[in-house]
Amino acid sequence: MMTVASALLDSAAAAAAKAYAPYSHFQVGCALLTARGNLFTGCNVENASYGLTICAERNTIFHAVAEEGPGMKIAQLAVIALGHEFPPCGGCRQVIAEFAGAETPIWFLRDGKPVSMTMAELLPASFRI
Ligand code: THU
Repeated sequence: MMTVASALLDSAAAAAAKAYAPYSHFQVGCALLTARGNLFTGCNVENASYGLTICAERNTIFHAVAEEGPGMKIAQLAVIALGHEFPPCGGCRQVIAEFAGAETPIWFLRDGKPVSMTMAELLPASFRI
């Protein structure tokens, strides 16, 4: 059965294949489902001035906001890297938290299997204003 999580991870993997990562060779993809039911994907895009690189997660979230507007809410999000396994980086966790709830599931692979952590587990005591 095709679950939302496996569909999101598949979409993230397809996005990872489009990464522009000539410096790190880390091809990362992200897929998110919004509360309105739209799917957005994105990849990391690196730059010769390394600090200008954008992670797959932020690229995807910023695109989703550009399409849906400031009310965009993340229902579920998945991140995948080709040949590597990791949850979103710390900076992206803060950006995800801006558009997610405490219970929003964040999917990634661990030992080849989908696992999810809630936003509150990934970023306890997040900065809020
Ligand atoms: N990267 C992401 O796209 N997302 C993460 O959560 C971790 C890191 C990218 C940034 C850079 O292009 C490459 O992976 C290596 O850090």
